[in-house]
Amino acid sequence: MKQIEIHGATKSSTILIGECLKNLSNYIPSQDVVLITDKTVSEYYQKDFPKFRTITIGTGEHIKTLDTAGLIYQELLTMDAQRSTFIVGIGGGIVCDLTGFVASTFLRGVRFGFVSSTLLSQVDASVGGKNGVNFKGFKNMVGVFNQPEFVICDLDLLKTLPEKELLCGFAEVVKHALIEDRDLFTFIENNAAKALALDHVVLERFVHDSVVIKSSVVNRDEKEKGERRKLNFGHTFGHAIEKTTGIPHGEAVSLGMVLAASLSVRKQLLSEEEFHRITRLLKNLKLPTVLEYDKREVMDALKKDKKREGDLIHFVLINGIGKSVIAEISIQELTRMIESH
Ligand SMILES: NC(=O)c1ccc[n+]([C@@H]2O[C@H](COP(=O)([O-])OP(=O)(O)OC[C@H]3O[C@@H](n4cnc5c(N)ncnc54)[C@H](O)[C@@H]3O)[C@@H](O)[C@H]2O)c1
Ligand SMILES: [Zn+2]
Repeated sequence: MKQIEIHGATKSSTILIGECLKNLSNYIPSQDVVLITDKTVSEYYQKDFPKFRTITIGTGEHIKTLDTAGLIYQELLTMDAQRSTFIVGIGGGIVCDLTGFVASTFLRGVRFGFVSSTLLSQVDASVGGKNGVNFKGFKNMVGVFNQPEFVICDLDLLKTLPEKELLCGFAEVVKHALIEDRDLFTFIENNAAKALALDHVVLERFVHDSVVIKSSVVNRDEKEKGERRKLNFGHTFGHAIEKTTGIPHGEAVSLGMVLAASLSVRKQLLSEEEFHRITRLLKNLKLPTVLEYDKREVMDALKKDKKREGDLIHFVLINGIGKSVIAEISIQELTRMIESH
């Protein structure tokens, strides 16, 4: 097991990588605990939960709303939850985002922790202290910054995860390597097949290095404005492609990373050879690198990007594998670039 302490602005969080759901009771009070999970995770793992009252929600991005938060508040009231109640979210990014939001707002905030059960939530959603819900179709529109006391990243839970969900996590791991860590990139290159076979040692390194990279970028942002934008690598085009085609987030981010890497080549920041290393790695991880889509629709979605400032978009490029820079790129240049691809 590997342990990482993350020091946030107000609180600290302990990330436990390779710890087991079965040991959850070691990290929580012996009474007055409420668990929040979703239907699928409950079907697989309720047998391993400590014996506390459990709120079970549905699945899917469409339930990450204030309405669901309202239903959870209602159940907490019915259970007579108090300010002293400890809440644990057991599930993927949706359960964790909702749990963090509810725990931060119920009675002005109660203590909480997570057991992350998807690779995406282990490498991304559980670090950075963002909790929130969607509002009127806008993603993560309403939320709070607040750190869970602990996050258990149980790698054994990934055995039941559908492969598509696993790949979403891989896309974010590759992103972390590309923006900050050349050694991690080489490690992924050498271990792609083992990762797909859920090798424990390989996954432990993926989660550990991702948590270290994400938390160090987030911490630096407290001083250096804009640094956090680097975590958006591949996501400008990625979000636009996800919105217009409906493909899973990780697949869209994979395509977005290819486009961002291609723009980095045009700007002479990245060699052709390194570009090919990137596409080869994504393919080896079963992630897409090409897709037919309506380019005009993608550009229309991209123009609605909330990070846009006038005609310019803060765009993350890579300056060789393992280094990133933020550049202001015009919408016209992005249009030319996507059209020639
Ligand atoms: N807070 C953040 O910083 C942050 C960062 C990235 C993503 N997110 C959010 O995370 C959400 C996506 O998270 P996700 O990809 O984990 O999705 P998810 O929570 O919807 O989980 C994906 C699916 O896998 C199922 N599942 C979960 N664990 C399982 C397991 N061990 N075995 C079998 N099935 C399992 C779930 O029931 C669900 O159907 C999005 O809403 C996104 O906005 C938040
Ligand atoms: Zn992402």
